[in-house]
Amino acid sequence: MQSRRIGDTQVSAIGLGGMPLSIEGRPDDEQRSVDTIHAALDAGVTLIDTADAYSLDNTDIGHNESLIARAVASFGGDTSEVLIATKGGHTRAKGGGWGLNGSPEYLKQACEASLKRLGVDAIGLYQFHRPDPAVDYADSVGALRDLLDAGKIRYAGISNADPDQIRLANDILGGRLASVQNEFSPRFRSSEPELDLCDELGIAFLPWSPLGGIAKAGELGANFAPFAAVAADRGVSPQQVCVAWLLAKSPVVIPIPGSSRPATIRDSAAAVHLTLTADEFTRLDAIH
Ligand SMILES: NC(=O)c1ccc[n+]([C@@H]2O[C@H](COP(=O)([O-])OP(=O)(O)OC[C@H]3O[C@@H](n4cnc5c(N)ncnc54)[C@H](OP(=O)(O)O)[C@@H]3O)[C@@H](O)[C@H]2O)c1
Repeated sequence: MQSRRIGDTQVSAIGLGGMPLSIEGRPDDEQRSVDTIHAALDAGVTLIDTADAYSLDNTDIGHNESLIARAVASFGGDTSEVLIATKGGHTRAKGGGWGLNGSPEYLKQACEASLKRLGVDAIGLYQFHRPDPAVDYADSVGALRDLLDAGKIRYAGISNADPDQIRLANDILGGRLASVQNEFSPRFRSSEPELDLCDELGIAFLPWSPLGGIAKAGELGANFAPFAAVAADRGVSPQQVCVAWLLAKSPVVIPIPGSSRPATIRDSAAAVHLTLTADEFTRLDAIH
């Protein structure tokens, strides 16, 4: 597995997105979820993305973090290099709705709860999940700075941020902004300015829903002909081509494809071995 950088730590160039294992539609059989996480670790994945809000509803907060902590603990191999990236700032409502709370008090309390569920003294990467229009962005990011300074988190990241918020967050954190996680896929290209800014500043960019999201990932080849064509030429899946295209966009990109089956994370992780030609990259990158 190739590696890329979050802060000054090397992680696998491809991470596992944990969301499909915990939100609506998740596997009924928990063993399948554990097997999926173990398959990722077996493939050399050392970055797992989660959030306290990856759950069915408000009664189930932390489902994904607890599942990942258990699966990592029960893995037979070395997990000392595994970096678990979680998030705070999204809330869940009765019945499954999503809410926001970006107040510093809430974020600090959410971080404490995540520390307990993950069973660690410091969270590998703690990401502010989404700007809360009711709270000054600088105040939310100020909570991340305090958590960093207190040693509760090793690295701080933000998610769903625009270029101004990225610059502001990096300033507030004294140049310590380690990652930005925004939606980016063949289906959703509008985070290109944020990706370019991360490339310029040397900040890791984690594209979320890199295959188009849980409901659309299976249709990637049908919806984007160049991905199907390159996949057919190379004898691999369009999803693997997509992950390879994201890797080729910039050395700061670390895709985090979601998975709920061992076969899909194995296939996605194998994208590190798929080096696209310049011509293939140009054909794929022309999709808008
Ligand atoms: N920061 C945010 O606001 C935010 C929002 C959304 C997501 N995220 C993060 O981003 C991660 C990824 O996004 P996502 O899970 O929404 O969508 P995604 O990665 O675009 O798609 C996930 C789906 O792709 C399928 N898949 C994965 N690899 C495949 C392959 N090689 N071939 C065929 N199908 C494949 C999986 O199917 P199976 O289920 O059958 O394995 C999975 O359900 C999430 O898990 C989460 O960690 C963050």
